[in-house]
Amino acid sequence: MAVLLTGGTGYIGSHTAVCMLEAGYDVVIADDLSNSAADVADRIRQITGRDLRFYQIDVSDRAAVRALFDENDIDAVIHFAGFKAVGESVREPLKYYRNNLDTTLTLLEVMAERNVGVFIFSSSATVYGDRNPAPYTEDMETGRCSNPYGWTKEMIERILESACVADGNLSAVALRYFNPIGAHESGLIGDDPNGIPNNLMPFITQTAAGIRERLSVFGDDYPTPDGTGVRDYIHVVDLAKGHVAAYRYACDHKGFEAINLGTGVGYSVLDIVKTFERVNGVRVPYVIAARRPGDLASVYSDPSKAKALLGWETEKSLEDMCRDAWNYQKNRL
Ligand code: NAD
Ligand code: UD1
Repeated sequence: MAVLLTGGTGYIGSHTAVCMLEAGYDVVIADDLSNSAADVADRIRQITGRDLRFYQIDVSDRAAVRALFDENDIDAVIHFAGFKAVGESVREPLKYYRNNLDTTLTLLEVMAERNVGVFIFSSSATVYGDRNPAPYTEDMETGRCSNPYGWTKEMIERILESACVADGNLSAVALRYFNPIGAHESGLIGDDPNGIPNNLMPFITQTAAGIRERLSVFGDDYPTPDGTGVRDYIHVVDLAKGHVAAYRYACDHKGFEAINLGTGVGYSVLDIVKTFERVNGVRVPYVIAARRPGDLASVYSDPSKAKALLGWETEKSLEDMCRDAWNYQKNRL
């Protein structure tokens, strides 16, 4: 038996592959390498001392997915593959709807053909939209997403819910990630965005490394303790372990569940900058800039459902996240 990780050479998928292998499960990765590199599979092997099968395929290609299922005894799918750049999704919405929805539908159809009934999906806190107050709980109304990327997550959650109503043997868990940062402590895998980073932590590490001149802090007039945006940053290894727990849960249950993966604690942009500087002994020059359109003041989870259902909670601190993110950046230089 093996678990299929689509998008498994990407940022979150690669860390989850490590945790699944370390937990004793066999792993097959399918990734088209549109946003990751083939050598990540070797790094996962190097970290874990275990082998895995890697397929360079587009997971919306039904024939390729069927062939993968023919060649492997897959008992569950963890679906990371998809596009995730918010700004690009506004400029090229059809590309996002096509890739994110097609990959999911193809996988669910092939799973139904093969009687594979466990599906774990990478959803996002973005589904909570702009009307809910933090901390977010899973029973809040979702939707009202501010961009096409967010809508793909919302739509896929609804698809999974409907599929579970129709097929009593299906178990689908949508994991709503908050803000994953950091890297594996080996420094061998991490977040590797192409071009100028959109997200805070890669911009900080590249600024500390001298690749970027300075960080722009997007707004200091939010109704938060220091005026800068507050988010629920979660170490990517904690997040990865949440997938192992979700896989075990989904194997023993049927139906659809949406579950937050966060720490429940919010930190501001300046908290992150100052902690990063202190822990790593480096400077991160910054300027205060205008608010970024679409940003919310304060976004953090109530993680109690994950603890109750999955027996999972985060273990790593903000210091760990900052240290491991910088360690990965230094390794890449
Ligand atoms: P990533 O881009 O590093 O990984 C996604 C992987 O999917 C990449 O390796 C890419 O090559 C692959 N891929 C894309 N389309 C594919 C296709 N059609 N067939 C096969 N492979 C394909 O992104 P990530 O940060 O690891 O995110 C993983 C998932 O988690 C995504 O679905 C993303 O939307 C979701 N998510 C990420 C965050 C975050 O902050 N990183 C937050 C919430 C949700
Ligand atoms: C963003 C996306 C979200 C997506 C997530 C992971 C938006 C509006 N939201 O979340 O849908 O799931 O990334 O890909 O794009 N910041 C700066 N300067 C920077 C970068 C960020 O001050 O150069 C601030 C932001 O204003 C925010 C915080 O840092 O307060 C975190 O930003 P970011 O890492 O981009 O994540 P989110 O905006 O929370």
